Amino acid sequence: MEMQNPAPDGPVLGIETSCDETAVAIYCPRHGLLAHELFSQADLHAAFGGVVPELASRDHLRRLLPLLTQTLTAAGLAGRDLAAVAYTAGPGLIGALLVGATAGVGLAFAWSVPAMPVHHMEAHLLAPLLEDEPPEFPFLALLVSGGHSMLVDVRRFGDYSILGETVDDAAGEAFDKAAKLLGLPYPGGPALAKLAEHGDATRFDLPRPMLRRPGLDFSFSGLKTAVMLAVREQERLGGPGEQDRADLAASFQLAVVDTLVAKAERALTASGRERLVIAGGVGANRLLRERLRESMAARGGRVYYPRIDFCTDNAAMVALAGSLRLRAGKPPSLLVEARPRWPLTDA
Ligand code: KG4
Ligand code: ZN
Repeated sequence: MEMQNPAPDGPVLGIETSCDETAVAIYCPRHGLLAHELFSQADLHAAFGGVVPELASRDHLRRLLPLLTQTLTAAGLAGRDLAAVAYTAGPGLIGALLVGATAGVGLAFAWSVPAMPVHHMEAHLLAPLLEDEPPEFPFLALLVSGGHSMLVDVRRFGDYSILGETVDDAAGEAFDKAAKLLGLPYPGGPALAKLAEHGDATRFDLPRPMLRRPGLDFSFSGLKTAVMLAVREQERLGGPGEQDRADLAASFQLAVVDTLVAKAERALTASGRERLVIAGGVGANRLLRERLRESMAARGGRVYYPRIDFCTDNAAMVALAGSLRLRAGKPPSLLVEARPRWPLTDA
């Protein structure tokens, strides 16, 4: 394949199809984010109470090319103006990843530009760099999504150590499962947080998993079981009524937030970092954001978030990560790379 000399500070197109959001964006280091488009499949999967992988792949196929045309038009660019095409290569659902990966590599080939495979969690933790006051390296990142919960020491771009991670469910997964137990529609996290607004968070005494033990790992499956038992108890009493459900939602949310805040504080003390980045879908949670802001202010540090839309899956973070990879001299790949499992430390 003949490749143009890539201009490393030119615009990079990003493609995201790792789960149930189809997204395309263009980021340029000189001009910032030029365009970003997204289609959420949430309604498609809602009837099934969770993401159905085969439906996700088929819908990515349907949506990706129209979104691509929309994004290029919005940015006023043609394919050959790009410095690279970046795509999420993993971790994620294999069929869903393959749609974005084959499209990304095919387009890069057609436009004679490099294709850059991007690690989805690396893209999440870099998302706050898209904001007006981006964090400087080094920082600590609390990555909390539907598939992952981890605390990462970010020394510089591409240099990461995982300080702690979940031993069972991810934080977002726990939100989704607790929401299901409370009869809420998928995706459960935002619905549960909304229900919790009218609830009394002190009514149900739910466990704060692994807080008494030393270390930085998380566990959320026991908390989910505690919610299940509380719902059963309410059913025995003829409920749960609307207020009971709101109280349970609030108590659950507080238990998760307390746990995440305590572990983040522990990791900050251990690593001596003064900047905390919070990213991933659960990073959209208002209570978590508020509590971490207070905690960092009290420590004389600062917390950085992506805008709410860029906490959940999006292609802006993928285009940014691709651009950083290109500028760091990481090699493009001619292979279609799709890795359902891919440790962040190998990114
Ligand atoms: O990062 P993301 O879009 O996808 C993954 O890479 O997993 O995260 C989705 C997760 C879901 O579990 C969803 O319920 C959760 O983020 N989430 C929330 C909120 N918004 C999204 N959890 C709690 N509160 C929210 N406001
Ligand atoms: Zn994600």
